[in-house]
Amino acid sequence: MKHLIDPTDLSREETDQIIDLACEIIENREAWQDKMAHRKLSTLFYEPSTRTRLSFTAAMMELGGNVLGFADAANSSVSKGETVQDTVRVVSSFVDVIAMRHYIEGAQLYASEVSPVPIINAGDGSHSHPTQTLTDLLTIRRELGHIDGITIGFCGDLRFGRTVHSLIKALARYKDIKVILIAPEALKLPDYIRHDVCDKMKIDYREVETMEEVMPELDILYMTRVQKERFLDEDEFDRVKDSFRLDLEKLSRAKSRMAVLHPLPRVNEILQEVDNDPRAAYFRQVENGKFVRMALIVKLLEWKDDPAHGMPQEDIPIYNPHAKCTNPKCICTSEAAPHKFRLSADGELRCWYCDAKVR
Ligand code: NCD
Repeated sequence: MKHLIDPTDLSREETDQIIDLACEIIENREAWQDKMAHRKLSTLFYEPSTRTRLSFTAAMMELGGNVLGFADAANSSVSKGETVQDTVRVVSSFVDVIAMRHYIEGAQLYASEVSPVPIINAGDGSHSHPTQTLTDLLTIRRELGHIDGITIGFCGDLRFGRTVHSLIKALARYKDIKVILIAPEALKLPDYIRHDVCDKMKIDYREVETMEEVMPELDILYMTRVQKERFLDEDEFDRVKDSFRLDLEKLSRAKSRMAVLHPLPRVNEILQEVDNDPRAAYFRQVENGKFVRMALIVKLLEWKDDPAHGMPQEDIPIYNPHAKCTNPKCICTSEAAPHKFRLSADGELRCWYCDAKVR
């Protein structure tokens, strides 16, 4: 069975199959309207969401299926102390597939270990967001006509922005990708992405501090919001919250076919005056999110009993009862997940669930 916890749970071929299917659905929506009749999706959202939850719901409805779940865990048995594994065991007896968002990192991976139905990670803390990645890849394909060979600038909160982490991981499997990281020191990419993804996969990347200096080179400008809710120190957030503003003046230096992406919600990092520029692709990107989630649901259920589409078996877990994950927002800190680790490309022992360093 295939879960989607991390973008690399899908091979490059499987990723392309989902994107191709999304394009097919866009061309012929009627043909898909009963594909998921009598099937059910559960959306378990432990953290706020507008686009992701509603686009999963809209996706399943457009496929003729049904949706049940919660948008606020305070109204579920979670408030009585139920673990994510128990919640998933219960809910999986009612539905065919589960989409879960959690503020705890690694929650979906831990839940998937006991789930008899596919689990889709709809965002875990600042860690991963693989369905946004599928949305982004479909948007790049539709805006530019190809994904291989692009130069993409990631601007803003590269430290806590889970959509950035997941998209870089996915792009590492495409050809001739150039990545430009645009962030101040305090918002730089986490080490595990830099070493385990960029260095290991030999991604051509460089770091700069302003978007102006790289604007003419970019095919994609990927803007992000500074993730206020992930900062432990409010002063630190105040220092970086206004780091970047995209306006028409800055955009005037970009290629005429560049596309501006943003997972949304935006705060102040893209001025409204940019919205009417043909390069502003972020609202088209939202719509792509529904189509790609339709394709994902169809594929995960098609692949469920096919051994050719299992989970990748690349890493072998290392069990060490004496080592501890250093991340207070990891599932192994908040629930009784086993002390499971992996050896990363930089020789460090890292948490199996959240990739944080270990002590
Ligand atoms: C993103 C997320 O939740 O990580 N939003 C989304 O899913 N479209 C980005 C964000 O919250 O800034």
